Amino acid sequence: MDPKDPAVPGLLRDGRLEVTGRIVSASNATLLCAIEVDGLRAECVYKPVRGERSLWDFPDGTLAAREYASYLIAEAFAVGDDGPLVPPTVLREGPFGPGMVQLWIDTDRDRELVDVLPPSEVPAGWLTVLRARDALGEPAVLVHADQPELQRMAVLDILINNADRKAGHVLAALGGGVYGVDHGICLHEEDKLRTVLWGWIGRRLPLELLRSVRKVRRRLDDGLCATLAEHLTRRELRALSNRVDGLLSCPRFPAPSGYGPAIPWPAF
Ligand SMILES: Nc1ncnc2c1ncn2[C@@H]1O[C@H](COP(=O)(O)OP(=O)(O)O)[C@@H](O)[C@H]1O
Ligand SMILES: [Mg+2]
Repeated sequence: MDPKDPAVPGLLRDGRLEVTGRIVSASNATLLCAIEVDGLRAECVYKPVRGERSLWDFPDGTLAAREYASYLIAEAFAVGDDGPLVPPTVLREGPFGPGMVQLWIDTDRDRELVDVLPPSEVPAGWLTVLRARDALGEPAVLVHADQPELQRMAVLDILINNADRKAGHVLAALGGGVYGVDHGICLHEEDKLRTVLWGWIGRRLPLELLRSVRKVRRRLDDGLCATLAEHLTRRELRALSNRVDGLLSCPRFPAPSGYGPAIPWPAF
């Protein structure tokens, strides 16, 4: 189903969930489901809170709420016809208890946006994030495309303090568009930006992205803060608000903070 179809949120909220599979490579219990109501049918992921793996730095049982909060912020960040960069996401009951349910995005495998390649094979215009050597000692580079949608995702990640923007969490949708998934470890009160999208360090934010950040500021003040308070702590909310203001007062792509790893591992 088209993520921008206005019927999607209702379907995700009210549809009957039937578990059809499990993503075995996932680190949490990430279930693939069919969802159906009133003749509408789609595929989605369902991550029950009960299936969340414990982490040392994030409080237990909070990942689904962080995914939902990230979706709400992506919605506030969206402008024009493009729609949010996060697929429609809801919190609801499911066969294994409360959790998050998110529309499945069919991906275009011929449209990679992040890759590890020998330096000679990097497509023209792509940005290099890391130079390394592969298992055989040959040079390899971590690179990503230089595209407005990816740049937009990098800015969203700054706002939501994404600690896990791996290559596999950047989806090029079939039929166009780019979506980010797996926002369980976002919105921590401490800086944890960990991403493969470091290609624009030091550059000024384009005007339309600045406009989007301003829109988030307005939406936070117009009720989004109150909604997010149901899902985040006061300190996490204050940190979010500070990140938004920080980017507005210094509208440049930041460099890694120097604390902790800046690139998620594995990067894919
Ligand atoms: N909404 C989605 N649409 C399409 N693919 C998805 C979606 N959510 C997750 N995936 C795929 O499933 C993989 C595992 O899901 P992820 O959200 O990363 O789970 P985990 O929290 O366990 O790491 C992702 O890397 C991605 O390839
Ligand atoms: Mg993941």
